[in-house]
Amino acid sequence: MVSEDEKQTILVTGGAGFIGSHTVLQLLKEGYNVYVIDNFDNSVEEAVNRVRLLAGPEYSQNLHFYLGDIRNKEDLEKVFSQTRFDAVIHFAALKAVGESVQKPALYYNNNIIGSLYLYEYMAKYGCKKLVFSSSSTVYGEPEKIPCDEDIPLKAVSPYGRTKLFLEEIARDIQKADYEWKIILLRYFNPVGAHESGMIGEDPKGIPNNLMPYIQQVAVGRLPQLNVYGTDYPTKDGSTIRDYIHVMDVANGHLAALQKLFQTENIGCVAYNLGTGNGTSVLEMISAFERASNKKIPIKLCPRRPGDATEVYSSPEKAFKELGWRAKYGIEEMCRDQWNWASKNPYGYQTKELLQKSERKEKGERNSDQIFQYMLSYSTIEEY
Ligand code: NAD
Ligand code: UFG
Repeated sequence: MVSEDEKQTILVTGGAGFIGSHTVLQLLKEGYNVYVIDNFDNSVEEAVNRVRLLAGPEYSQNLHFYLGDIRNKEDLEKVFSQTRFDAVIHFAALKAVGESVQKPALYYNNNIIGSLYLYEYMAKYGCKKLVFSSSSTVYGEPEKIPCDEDIPLKAVSPYGRTKLFLEEIARDIQKADYEWKIILLRYFNPVGAHESGMIGEDPKGIPNNLMPYIQQVAVGRLPQLNVYGTDYPTKDGSTIRDYIHVMDVANGHLAALQKLFQTENIGCVAYNLGTGNGTSVLEMISAFERASNKKIPIKLCPRRPGDATEVYSSPEKAFKELGWRAKYGIEEMCRDQWNWASKNPYGYQTKELLQKSERKEKGERNSDQIFQYMLSYSTIEEY
């Protein structure tokens, strides 16, 4: 616990999002002053409100929120000129792999330009400690598993390339100016939710990733799960991933911050945040069925283009150097994901909000998100 007079002040970009909201909560509970900048592109204000509630009156007063965009220099000037930050945790990014293939310029603009502007303002205001959200996507189809931090990097999508380029950019910035201290955290597959079930992942539109999709099938928003690929050379023919509880990921950021504050000349260094365990898609479905006591209807489908067969981490470097290790297993990930889903079948939206938008829109569907809610409205009553 940081004592009152030595509380550090952290800027969290994208702090209203899935991993950001869980991390902000842990930072507050650890006694940090936290400032969030988010443009709500893939999140909602309610997530921030709930983090405040969970933090309680003592800690929530240390949370400050800016509605802003890291691509907007005026927003950055406002944030940095008003507060002196000890470090930045940089989550803000677009992250949908498929969308990045359709709209590469949008991804390069948001993720790369946004990050460059952020670093410009960090340097201008003398804040040169950074924790950056990277991803196991930088390992592509890995040549060796478990993936350790030294295996060759490659990217197979524009999204993946933004992460790869941003890692290189971070290394170059640090090489050019040794005052920078940078930790790149390569997350594997973050899932689950805070144990309260008050915050969790709430993707807009139809989910791309396995667990949010399973969750929406379980609550009746989607009819069945497509299992992409049953002929992989794995134990049951489905792909293998390293799923990690989002609270473990959040706590990894606290360990990384401590490392930045305590280590001289750390340079720019990458750490995996994974459990080190591989779980197949079919195993994950079974675990979720056990946790939720619901049957998940599945459809066996051909492979999804671009998917790697087997990806899991070596988490040893993070354990040795950050003193961090994942605590939770698949059962807890599914338990907490279901707790969040069953309490919030429509994420941060309420049924009342849905009914209101239905009356207001009357067939006029002004966004994919509302369209999605309308489509599944009949099942809300059932649920
Ligand atoms: P998320 O979409 O839930 O959160 C990202 C947040 O950033 C959102 O709240 C969004 O509104 C905000 N944002 C995006 N662009 C912005 C901009 N230009 N200015 C201000 N705010 C902006 O995603 P997440 O799952 O919490 O991921 C956080 C980070 O971790 C991202 O960088 C992502 O690429 C990375 N990551 C995520 C995963 C995963 O599976 N969730 C895996 C590996 C890496
Ligand atoms: N899958 C299905 N059905 C679905 C969704 C996914 O069978 O509806 C399968 C996929 O084909 C894949 C596995 O479940 O084999 C995991 O898929 P996810 O989309 O959940 O996760 P990925 O490992 O493919 O990729 C995600 C992000 C990447 C990121 C990676 C690690 O999309 O950008 O997690 O964090 F790098």
